[in-house]
Formats: sequence, C-alpha cells, structure tokens
Amino acid sequence: MLIGVLGAGTMGAGIAQVAAQNGHQVILVDTNDEQLQKAQKQLSDTMLRLIEKQKVTKEKSSAIQAAISYTTVLSDFAPCGLVIEAIVENLAVKHEVFSQLEKVVSDTCILASNTSSLSIASIGGVLKKANRVIGIHFFNPAPLMPLVEIIPAVQTENAILEQAVSLVKSWGKTVVVCKDTPGFIVNRVARPFYGEALRIYEEGIADFATIDWAMTEIGGFKMGPFTLMDYIGNDVNYAVTESVFEAFYYDPRFKPSFTQKRHKEAGYYGRKTGRGYYDYSEGAIIPTPTKDYVLGQQIVDRILAMLINEAYDAVFMQVATAEAVDLAMTKGVNYPKGLIEWSKEIGTKEILCRLEKLFLFYGEDRYRPNPLLRNNVFL
Ligand code: NAI
Repeated sequence: MLIGVLGAGTMGAGIAQVAAQNGHQVILVDTNDEQLQKAQKQLSDTMLRLIEKQKVTKEKSSAIQAAISYTTVLSDFAPCGLVIEAIVENLAVKHEVFSQLEKVVSDTCILASNTSSLSIASIGGVLKKANRVIGIHFFNPAPLMPLVEIIPAVQTENAILEQAVSLVKSWGKTVVVCKDTPGFIVNRVARPFYGEALRIYEEGIADFATIDWAMTEIGGFKMGPFTLMDYIGNDVNYAVTESVFEAFYYDPRFKPSFTQKRHKEAGYYGRKTGRGYYDYSEGAIIPTPTKDYVLGQQIVDRILAMLINEAYDAVFMQVATAEAVDLAMTKGVNYPKGLIEWSKEIGTKEILCRLEKLFLFYGEDRYRPNPLLRNNVFL
C-alpha cells in the first residue's frame, strides 16, 4: 500500500521512516520545502548511524531512503491507500487540510491523524466520507517508541479500524485501541505523574530534586517528573495539561499547576532553553536531594496511588481494556510496570486506603477513588 504522510516535522518525518522501513513507498508532503530537505537530511544521517552500528545494511538503507518521495504538492497523495496527517496541532488548520485531502484521494483511502489532543470526531467532522477517519497516534521518536494508540471516532467504520490495526501491527508496533476521549490513554493516565509531583512541591513537602530522586530511586521510574517535564518542555507539557483539563470540563483531577505555568511564562521550558526546574547552563550547581527514605516512600506512594486511580478510571470509562492501559504506559512512556498490574502487586485495598486518606484530608474531588478500584476491593 502506498502511504502518504502530511507534515515533515518531528512526527511526520519519523512516521515516514517507519513506513519506509517496513517496505512501503511513501509520499511525504509539507508546505515548507526547507522542512522537507531537513527531513531528508535527518533520515540520511540516521541511516549512516545505523549502518555504523550494523543495524542496517547499506542496501537496505538506500532502499529505505529511495522509498520516500518528498513533495510540496498535496495532489501527489492521489494514489495513496492511507494518509497520516502530522501537521500543526490546530483544529482549524487540520479542517482545512482534511477537506483538501478528501478532494485528491480516492474514496477508499483511509484518512488518519496523529493528533495528541484533538478529537478524531471533530477532525472527521469536515469529511464527506467520514467513516474512513481514524486516529493513529505515534509517540516521539516514532521509529523508536513501540506504542501506537489507534482511535476510532464515532464515525469510523469497523473495517477501517481493523485495517489500520493490522497495518500498524505489521510495522512491528504495539497497538492499543482506545476511545476518542481527551488525552486518549497515555496523555490522560500520565497526568498525575506531573500534576501530583507539582502539588507535593507546592505544598512544601519536598523540592524538585527530592521528588525526582524518590520517583527514580524508590519508584523505579526511568526519569523523575521534573527532569521529564524539563525534557519534554514545560511549554508543551503545560499545554497538554491545560487542554486535557479543559476537555474534561474542568475536572479538578486534571487541574494545571501555577508552578508549571510560571515556569512556562518565564521561558523556563527546560533543556531546550537551558533552564527549567533545573539549571542546565555550564557549571550550574546540581541540586542534591534529601535522601530521606521515609519521605521518599510517602512521595512515591502518593503519586503512584493517583496514577493507579487514573488507570482504573480509563478502564472504568471504557477508554481501553486494562491490558491496553498497562501496555500503553509501559510501551508509550516506559513505566516500570503496568499500573493495573502494579495495583494488584501492592494490593488494591492499600491503594484505596491511600486515596481515601488523601480525599479525607484535603476534601478535594481530585482525590476521589475510582468506583472500579473500590469494586475491586469490595466485590
Ligand atoms: P512539527 O511542528 O515538528 O511539524 C509540523 C509540520 O507540519 C511542519 O513541518 C510544518 O511545515 C508542516 N505543516 C504545517 N501546516 C501544514 C499544511 N497545511 N500542510 C502541510 N504541512 C504543514 O510538529 P510535530 O511535533 O511533528 O507534531 C505534528 C502532530 O503530531 C501534531 O498534531 C501533534 O499534536 C502530534 N504529536 C506530536 C508529538 C510530539 O512529541 N511532537 C507526539 C505525538 C503526536
């Protein structure tokens, strides 16, 4: 099948590489010619590195690079069986582009979006034949991250979903199917990793370095929340939090934090600006954590209980199955364990207890235990 990718930025270029590596001819379209050249150069650099590491042969590398055509002409998508859109995260722009796309492709062409925060139903809303719209959400960097969330909209035909799932699976990706709800699985369930860490900091319980130390050393996470927010960028991470909060009709569970907002406002985006929660300039003093294991365990217990509660909520609200939620968090954001599995290991009663305590102490809806978790304990 000929694959079209629209947008040659971070995600589009990566998705084109994945399709080409899996034997497809790919048409990569971007309105910006420089971006196309950059994508082409990046792929050739990546391939050189892979040849050096003997992960790919010279022949295969040449075949992958030759499989991608770079163009600014949208109508070049005409013969494609699937087009994946990965342009700017703006609904009005996506609407314009999907309307144009429908005019150039055949009736059987699947039209997918890689959006991380917009609803697939809203994107498909402009299509005349909306039963072929679907969300195919890759993670960054697309060639390396195994997870892909596939999101059928209310308009999506079952056959299109099945086709998309089997195609992406054939690319060696771990596929999870989820409901068209804000943040899908990963960007919803992961919110407390950042939000609760920020809350703990704001209450003066611990500083950034101590929270990061606790989550990595005791919790077993690869990166602490503040290091990870600095890595993602506080501008990007805050925007996702705010959009999930709005999309959930301001549910207090997803309330953004002033600390992160102020960091964003100050331009303290993280690594990319040299300053975030930490200072990345040369010679900067690296803050040392308070290695208090009792405090560290309390921090981990609290954040983990909130994450588990969120995972149960996604299952309870039929966003995805428990297996899919666990797969998503281990393969999409490298959590050391699936959250549902983790809850069984710790004991759901213990998790419920932690949440009840927080709920009683704060009296905030943010800490309400999920009914499915409660059922797990009492039924
Ligand atoms: P980016 O800014 O790196 O790339 C966007 C590309 O789209 C640019 O090359 C731009 O020239 C091109 N573009 C803009 N308007 C266009 C149009 N009308 N026609 C053709 N090309 C156009 O953006 P990025 O980060 O790759 O994100 C793309 C999409 O993927 C967004 O919907 C985003 O939410 C989603 N996404 C991003 C992730 C990330 O970590 N960056 C992760 C998963 C999804």
